[in-house]
Order: sequence, then C-alpha cells, then structure tokens
Amino acid sequence: VNPGLLLGVSALVHEAHTSGLLSALLAGPGSAAQLAARAGLTPGPVGLVLSGLVALELAAEDGEVFCASPALKTFGDQTPGGAALQREVWGSLGAALRGDPAASWEDRVARYPGVVAGLGALWGEVPHRLAEWVGGGEVVVDVGCGSGPWGRALTRPGGRLVGVDLPPVLQRLQEAAATSPIRVELIGGDMHAVEVPVGQADRVVIANVLRLEPPDRAAALLARWARALRPGGRLVVVDALAGGTPEAELDRRIYALHLGLRFPNGRVHPPAEVEAWMAAAGLREIGSVSLGAAPGALGALVGVAPC
Ligand SMILES: C[S@@+](CC[C@H](N)C(=O)[O-])C[C@H]1O[C@@H](n2cnc3c(N)ncnc32)[C@H](O)[C@@H]1O
Repeated sequence: VNPGLLLGVSALVHEAHTSGLLSALLAGPGSAAQLAARAGLTPGPVGLVLSGLVALELAAEDGEVFCASPALKTFGDQTPGGAALQREVWGSLGAALRGDPAASWEDRVARYPGVVAGLGALWGEVPHRLAEWVGGGEVVVDVGCGSGPWGRALTRPGGRLVGVDLPPVLQRLQEAAATSPIRVELIGGDMHAVEVPVGQADRVVIANVLRLEPPDRAAALLARWARALRPGGRLVVVDALAGGTPEAELDRRIYALHLGLRFPNGRVHPPAEVEAWMAAAGLREIGSVSLGAAPGALGALVGVAPC
C-alpha cells in the first residue's frame, strides 16, 4: 500500500470522470488537444491525465492519439445507468460524509425500470453458469426479477417462470423473455406483501435484492419466499457474497460504499448471516456456488427445502 500513490490515482480517476474526460474518450479517439476541446478542458493537464489513464489501462495510446481501453468501453456500454449515473452516485459521497440527506428509497426504486435491462446485460453469461451448477426447474419464482436474467436461465425450456417485481419493471421481463421458450407469469407489487404461491416452485431465486434491505427485512423476505418451494426444491440467493481474496474483499467494500450512497438502509450482508437466515427458514444442505469472475463480487448460496 502506497498512500501517496493511491491519493494520486483516486484524484486522477475521479477528476477524469467528473470533468467529462472519460465521456470524451468514450465518444471516440483523439489527440489530447481534441479530447480537451471535446470536454471543454485545458490541453496541457489533459495530456498528463491521459497518460496516467494509459498506465491504469483505462486508455490506450497510438502516437499522439488516445482512445478508450476495452475495459473502459465495457464500463461505458454495460454499467447500468451509464457513466452519468456513476458520476451522480460517486459525486454524492462528499454530501453523504457531511450528513446531507440522500435521495429517498422511492426515488431510487423509481429508476429500476430504466436500469434493469442494463443489469441483465452486465451479468452476461453468469446466470447460465449458475444454472449449470444448480440445475434448471420446471417452475421457477424470481423475486425482484428485474428483466429476469437469473430466472430465465434457471427455467427449463417449456417451463414456467413467475416474475415478482413492481409493476413498471415487469414489462422489462416480458420484453426480455419474448423470444425464449418459457411461459412467463407476473406477480406485480411489493414483494413483502404480495401473495406467495406456496409449495409450487422447483427453484426460487432472489438475486441482488437482499442488499436493498436491512438485515431483519432481508431475513423475513427470504423466509417468506422459501415457502414457495415444493419439497426438495432449491432456494438460490445471488448477491455480493464472494470474498476470500484481497481483490474480492476490495470489490465488496467498494460496492458496499456505492450501495450505501444509494440505499442507506441497505447492506452488503455477510455470507454467514445469509446462511443463518436460510437455515432459520428451514432450508438444508446450504452451500455456496462460485460464479467465477463475476462483476460486483457476485456469489451465490443454495439451500434445499426439506422433503
Ligand atoms: C438490483 S435489482 C435486481 C434485478 C434482478 N434480480 C437482477 O439481478 O438483474 C432489484 C430489483 O428489485 C426490485 N424491487 C425492489 N424493491 C421491491 C419491492 N418492495 N417489491 C418488489 N420488487 C422490488 C426492483 O424493482 C428491481 O427490479
């Protein structure tokens, strides 16, 4: 750890982001002077910042011309809400530290119809990796489904996927599943309050949802939807559960900060706590599934409903 270097790197990346230089790079290649003009900045310092971005593998250079690196292009293309939403979230850190009130939960959730398709794209092939491990089901319930990437991957062809989410979001599931060989049913409303179809599902998946809730509500939500399983069915929790390496721990902690800026009542729950909630909900044979190199320290826990 080199504190001076970290301060320099964080200032460089932060200012490249907030000044619009990263967006200028994402818009296409150019010389330092051209990129500075595109972002309304001063060419001299821009050249030095671009050179730092090359060292960080966020940019590449060919002679005098700079362009976005593949990693930066992926960020630009796949980050839900794009670079602008990230700018807004990280830009609120100072205000949060000073105790200024965050946007309300309702405001945050109101954005989901616009971002869930991007989230589905961000997970890429990871839901299929999970389905290979866990095995598909004929009847699958996806709680807080968004565009349903996890439920769609877990539902066998010809099977039935029950998507639970707020009504404006469910249209995204319908669009995403329009060409897949599964039947989709929708339960629109608050996942804490809508009626649970008890004892029917081979798989229940709760993906990237428990993190939005404080521990007591997350545990109650898990127990509530475990009741949808038939005997022998499996409950799958996907969340920021991966750890164990310095990179994964850093990823989890930075994500926890990002989440805290958006959902002050949410939390990156420790895997041992989620396991304890699963056991308290009556699930057995609880084990973790590695999702490999997945974004956002993503990992999964699986438990089986007793026969
Ligand atoms: C982070 S997204 C995850 C979407 C999807 N599971 C995925 O992993 O791509 C959280 C989802 O939970 C939904 N959600 C949040 N609070 C909810 C509530 N009280 N009732 C129903 N859905 C809710 C949001 O609308 C959003 O689609």
